Amino acid sequence: MLVLLTPGYEELSREAARIVANAVRGNPAVTLGLATGSTTLGMYKELVRLHKEHGLDFSRTTTFNLDEYLGLSAEHPQSFHHFMHEHFFDHVNADASRIHIPEGKIAGDYEQYCLGYERAIREAGGIDLQILGIGRNGHVGFNEPTSSFGSRTRLKVLTSETIEDNRKSFASGEEVPECAITMGVGTILEARKILLLATGAAKAETVAQAIEGPITASVTASCLQLHPDVTFVIDEAAAARLTQREYYRRVMEMTARLTPHRMA
Ligand code: GLP
Repeated sequence: MLVLLTPGYEELSREAARIVANAVRGNPAVTLGLATGSTTLGMYKELVRLHKEHGLDFSRTTTFNLDEYLGLSAEHPQSFHHFMHEHFFDHVNADASRIHIPEGKIAGDYEQYCLGYERAIREAGGIDLQILGIGRNGHVGFNEPTSSFGSRTRLKVLTSETIEDNRKSFASGEEVPECAITMGVGTILEARKILLLATGAAKAETVAQAIEGPITASVTASCLQLHPDVTFVIDEAAAARLTQREYYRRVMEMTARLTPHRMA
């Protein structure tokens, strides 16, 4: 586990984009797992800049998004489809046939649909780099507390806390979805490399639980302690409750010195 601490959100976004860009440059046919949420906006903005100004090439990249609200069409302004196109896909040269985002409006059998999403990930050779945000209750994707660490892509009922958090993106009076289709914890843990981003004081307690607390399905992100190659990129405000901050800083310095390719 590598914990990278950044002074603020801008540096966090640049750091995250640098890690993604390195993965794409290293293997243009890389398979990325993508996340939505306000935390990821700066990273996508920086990736778009790297594409426009430095020719970062997404034409052979395959992507799988983590989740989508159940019941929202791809055109709905609050859908994750819309988010991804507005903030990323419309501004880079990604090949539409290689973009995968779970459907919000599923005609027919949900379970079959979710099995198909899992199959598509497998057929693409698995996810090389999975990007994650974190919910205030510690969820990754929409894997709410008590999600099984073995769970796969499925329909998930959202907690009232998550519904309230999501409400801020919806117009007042508009119905906020109560369910989502999300990759499972087991799906996420199979990614070869994982990058989790967290910003702001509201996430500080959850981040501390995820990184330094016990491994428990009650804080889904704590599952990442089991993963062999996970990097957390966290700004000062979100890192405030970590007890080992000085140690993480020393590890960052040493890593830069001993294995500079990890930090380049
Ligand atoms: C939603 C998404 C998560 C995301 C979380 C945090 O719940 N399903 O993938 O990590 O929001 O969002 P934000 O970055 O806006 O705090």
